Amino acid sequence: MAAETIVAKNLSKRYGDFTAVNGISFKVKKGEIYGLLGPNGAGKTTTVRMLTTLTSITSGEAWINGYSVKEDRLMVKKSIGLVPDVSNLYDELTVEENLRFTAKLYGAPMENVEELIKEFNLPAKRKFGKLSSGFKRRVTIAAALVHEPEVLFMDEPTSNLDIRSAKAVRALVRALNLRGMTIFLTTHNMIDAELLPHRIAIMEQGKIVAEGRRGELKRLVGKGVIVRFSVEPVSSTLLKVLESYSPAFDEGRISVLVDDVDDFLDHLFELRKTLGFRVTYLSTELPSIEDVFMELTEESPCPCGGCPI
Ligand SMILES: Nc1ncnc2c1ncn2[C@@H]1O[C@H](COP(=O)(O)OP(=O)(O)O)[C@@H](O)[C@H]1O
Ligand SMILES: [Mg+2]
Repeated sequence: MAAETIVAKNLSKRYGDFTAVNGISFKVKKGEIYGLLGPNGAGKTTTVRMLTTLTSITSGEAWINGYSVKEDRLMVKKSIGLVPDVSNLYDELTVEENLRFTAKLYGAPMENVEELIKEFNLPAKRKFGKLSSGFKRRVTIAAALVHEPEVLFMDEPTSNLDIRSAKAVRALVRALNLRGMTIFLTTHNMIDAELLPHRIAIMEQGKIVAEGRRGELKRLVGKGVIVRFSVEPVSSTLLKVLESYSPAFDEGRISVLVDDVDDFLDHLFELRKTLGFRVTYLSTELPSIEDVFMELTEESPCPCGGCPI
């Protein structure tokens, strides 16, 4: 078994004159959760649709489990499950009927349906259309697993879900991955990006602008470390001294972004001696994926051309 489960090489998709995906390359290892993070319109869904044989590849190549997406479509389809951004199941059929129908399409054993219903705790006899969006997503994920694929593609798995359902879906993604499933997911949700993928590719306007593990991306932007602290009492002298660090104030906490934590803490504790305040809270953290994202992607200009945002 190849260590690399998904390989994309210079993958491009053009619609007429418009390039939706512009020569992207990446490799996803077996057992990895790989996240494609990007704003709406970045080309995430188009990438997933190319990798899952749903739309043609304009140029470049891709392989799943060593099978060419262009030439071995049947083998690729057997290897993968897809949770599309909009569910493809039937509202009028029950959960069980939907899963049975999907199993038949794939020639998968019907026992798989019963197992998934039990394992995912699904309301077998309820009509799909009557379910909450959280349960709909669960059933859609179950349907993608009915033929026991090795790789699962999930297009925005937590979008349009309430906080609790999104959390449940993230737990499910992790559980599937712990069992060895390779997962390729797209998201524009920073919580997903922060919590799920082992590696992240940041996509913008059809291109991958950065790729790596969370820590690597955070260091890549070279934004240093955030130090958050509270002191009592806060004096105007202290605020004056901190000005050079461009502090931010939030719920009684002061945050500064520094390159060298040790230097900053030395300075803070020196000030503590001279000004006589107490440090009541102190934490340090790397920038968030959202910070990385904001740093590495450009704000699309407003179509009006003249407004200040
Ligand atoms: N069938 C299509 N015909 C023309 N343009 C398309 C088509 N599908 C997607 N696009 C365009 O390609 C770009 C990328 O779309 P998409 O892959 O859906 O982005 P994302 O999933 O990141 O939001 C968008 O500008 C979208 O309008
Ligand atoms: Mg999309």
